[in-house]
Amino acid sequence: MNLQVQLEELKQSTLLKLKEMDGNHQKELQDLRVAVLGKKGSLTELLKGLKDLSNEERPLAGKLVNEVRDILTKAFEEQAEIVEAAVIRAKLESESIDVTLPGRQVSLGNRHVLTQTSEEIEDIFLGMGFQIVDGFEVEKDYYNFERMNLPKDHPARDMQDTFYITEEILLRTHTSPVQARTLDQHDFSKGPLKMISPGRVFRRDTDDATHSHQFHQIEGLVVGENISMGDLKGTLQMISQKMFGAERKIRLRPSYFPFTEPSVEVDVSCFKCGGDGCNVCKKTGWIEILGAGMVHPSVLEMSGVDSEKYSGFAFGLGQERIAMLRYGINDIRGFYQGDVRFTEQFK
Ligand code: PHE
Repeated sequence: MNLQVQLEELKQSTLLKLKEMDGNHQKELQDLRVAVLGKKGSLTELLKGLKDLSNEERPLAGKLVNEVRDILTKAFEEQAEIVEAAVIRAKLESESIDVTLPGRQVSLGNRHVLTQTSEEIEDIFLGMGFQIVDGFEVEKDYYNFERMNLPKDHPARDMQDTFYITEEILLRTHTSPVQARTLDQHDFSKGPLKMISPGRVFRRDTDDATHSHQFHQIEGLVVGENISMGDLKGTLQMISQKMFGAERKIRLRPSYFPFTEPSVEVDVSCFKCGGDGCNVCKKTGWIEILGAGMVHPSVLEMSGVDSEKYSGFAFGLGQERIAMLRYGINDIRGFYQGDVRFTEQFK
């Protein structure tokens, strides 16, 4: 058979096979290309036959081989595009994307309800000219107890047992040691001291719905000349109204803390029933929100502050308690578990 016929035949048969290839023949297309145009392919084989031809025949035959190679190369490229498009089409059809479906929601986090509570209270006090002070969670027995007028053998220490690092270093049981630390620092020639200090405190408590071995307080302290119980009441009245509503009243009940004298327990009139008695206020019309009192002269004197010249008031409120009352939360453990079903309710 002469070369021309063989070339024609290879061309026709290859084009015919190519036409039949669709999206299911990606591999076959590749194989055929190698079989025809590859190094050991049919066309290369035919090319080898050129050497048996005469000098006159050879240029023409060479030209013919090149022509066929060009035609086939182009045909392979075109078919490859068709096959590729078919593969993509099939994939899109099988995936059946519904472009009308709503997109995925990116859910935004929010600040913890306790953070929100303390920031809200901080804002109120900042507006009244208080400074915000940080204390230490790991504290000395000396500041936590002794400087708060609770010497080593004081019976009131029993109510505030805690975690001890050493005999003299402990996890603070209240934010009150910040009182002593700021009193030590304050320069009274520049004016009165007005500060609050929010933070975490620890006690040896068994965790239940209303107790936790760690919780949060906000300490408040005002010391200056002529600071009276009236200032304490006015300040607490104001904060209560901001937190629980403008109609709220407060009442002071006698209490005892070693570091204040006199000491009071502060109740706010029930924000749910307005004072008539309901389940929130346990039918009393009043809700206890914090402990307070006039700073004990010994606490002032231990900081080197003249208790004849200066006086002041202090208070300590529980952040969890405030948040539980405001939002009707009935289990304190919800604050610490990080369950989004709890946390996302306070967006
Ligand atoms: N430190 C007290 C407590 O934790 C609260 C308190 C603070 C009372 C300041 C009076 C004055 O119970």
